[in-house]
Amino acid sequence: MRVLVIGQGGREHALVWRLNQSPSVRKIFCATGNPGINQHAEPVPIPASDRAALVAFARANQVDLTVVGPDAPLGDGIVDDFAAAGLRIFGPSKAAARIETSKSFAKEIMARAGVSTAAHAVFDDANGARRYVRERGAPIVVKADGLALGKGVTVCLDVESAIHAIDEAMEAGTFGKSGDRVVIEEFLTGEEISFFALCDGESAIPFGSFQDHKAIFDGDRGPNTGGMGAYSPVPRFTPALEQRVMREIVEPVLRTLAAQGVPFRGLLFAGLMVDDDRISVVEFNARFGDPESQALMMRFEGDLGETLLAAAEGRARGLTLRISPKSAATVVLASSGYPGEYRKGVPIRGLEQLEGASVPSELKVRWSLGRIRVKVFHAGTALRDGQLVTDGGRVLAVTALAPDLRTAIETAYSAADLIEFEGKYCRRDIGHRALERLSA
Ligand SMILES: Nc1ncnc2c1ncn2[C@@H]1O[C@H](COP(=O)(O)OP(=O)(O)OP(=O)(O)O)[C@@H](O)[C@H]1O
Ligand SMILES: [Mg+2]
Repeated sequence: MRVLVIGQGGREHALVWRLNQSPSVRKIFCATGNPGINQHAEPVPIPASDRAALVAFARANQVDLTVVGPDAPLGDGIVDDFAAAGLRIFGPSKAAARIETSKSFAKEIMARAGVSTAAHAVFDDANGARRYVRERGAPIVVKADGLALGKGVTVCLDVESAIHAIDEAMEAGTFGKSGDRVVIEEFLTGEEISFFALCDGESAIPFGSFQDHKAIFDGDRGPNTGGMGAYSPVPRFTPALEQRVMREIVEPVLRTLAAQGVPFRGLLFAGLMVDDDRISVVEFNARFGDPESQALMMRFEGDLGETLLAAAEGRARGLTLRISPKSAATVVLASSGYPGEYRKGVPIRGLEQLEGASVPSELKVRWSLGRIRVKVFHAGTALRDGQLVTDGGRVLAVTALAPDLRTAIETAYSAADLIEFEGKYCRRDIGHRALERLSA
C-alpha cells in the first residue's frame, strides 16, 4: 500500500522507519518530513493545518492509508475530512480526540466510565477558580482545558502559584482559547507510567509501557519539555498491572465513548500515576507519544502498515502485535537553552559513524553481535548546503535496543556521545527509576 504520514519530528521518523520495513508498504509520503524521514519517504510540502490540500494530495496520489502524528490536526478534525472523502486514516475523529483536546471532557468520560482519576472541578470564571484553590489549599494542579503545546499544566506547591496559574490561563490569555476553561485537580503522588493501546473503536490491544522524562534537568528538575528521553518496557509495569489497566481504564473508556456515538479509533495514550495499588489517570492523549514512539518502534517487530490499517478499519480484535521483549532506551539530544531560546543552524557531526560501516571498533564488536541495535531518529534537523544542521529544540533521539534495560541505556549514551554539535545537551539519567529499582 501507499502511506502518507503527517508530521515532522522524531515520532514520525520512527513511524516512517518502521513503515518502511513493513512488507505491506510499497511507498511512503511524509508531510512535511525532515532529513531523517526523507531517507525513507517522499517529502510533501503541505502543512498539517492545510487539511483540504492533504485530502487532495492523498486522492491524487492513491494513498491507501494516512497516519497522523501530532495532536493539533486531530483536534482540528483531519480524520473527519479524510473519512468524508472516503480515504482511510489512522487516528480518532475530532469528537473522539476530545479525550485529549479537552481535559474537562476527559474527566466527564472517566466519571461515567468509573475510571480512577484525581478529584477535580471545572471553571469557566476565574473568581470561582480562585475561590476553589483557596478553599482546597496546596499542593494542587491547575490545567488549561485545551491543547497548550504541553505548557498548560501547572503543578502548584502553594496557593499563590495556583492563583498565578489561573490568572495566566484565564485572564492573561497565555494559552489563548485553550485557557478560557480550567480544570483544577488534586495533586497525585506516585510514579508516572505511559501506556499505549491500539484501538479500533470497539476493542483495544496493549501497545507498550513507557516512562518519559519531561523535565529538562537530571533528577526531574527544571521546566518541562516535550520529553528528554524514554524507555520501554517499564519493569514495574507487570502483566498483571497491564491487565488491570485494560480492564479498569482502557476498556470502560472505549465503551463509554462508543456509547456516546464517538468511537475511538487510533492510539489511546494513557498517562498513569501508579501508587502501590492505586492506578489513576493523569491524562489521555489521542496519538502516539514522543519520545515514547521512538522506543516502541525499535521494539515493534510486526508489519506496522497492516497493523495501523487494521485498527483504522475496525479490525483490531484478534490482532497480535509482535513486540520484542527486549528493552529500548531513547536519549534526546537537545539544543542548549531549550525549552527556552536556542540557536538553529548549528552543524551536526558524527552521525555517519552510527549509520555506516565506521562504528568505532569497541562498540562495533558489541553491536555486531546483532543483539544490540542503535538508531538515531531526527527530531529537529535540516540540511543546509548538504550539511546536517540543528533546526529545533529537540534535535535527535538516539535509541538503542538491547536484551536488558541497563545495556540499552548504556548503548544509547555511548552512541549519543559520538554525535557532536555545539551546545549539545542531554539528560544523563534516562531510566534512573528503573535502574535504581533493579539495583535495589
Ligand atoms: N493531578 C496531578 N498530580 C500530580 N502531577 C500531575 C497531575 N496532573 C498532571 N501532573 C503532572 O503534570 C504533567 C503534565 O500534565 P498533563 O499530562 O495533564 O498535561 P499535558 O500538557 O496534556 O501533557 P502532554 O504534553 O504530555 O500531553 C504530568 O505528566 C504530571 O507530571
Ligand atoms: Mg496531554
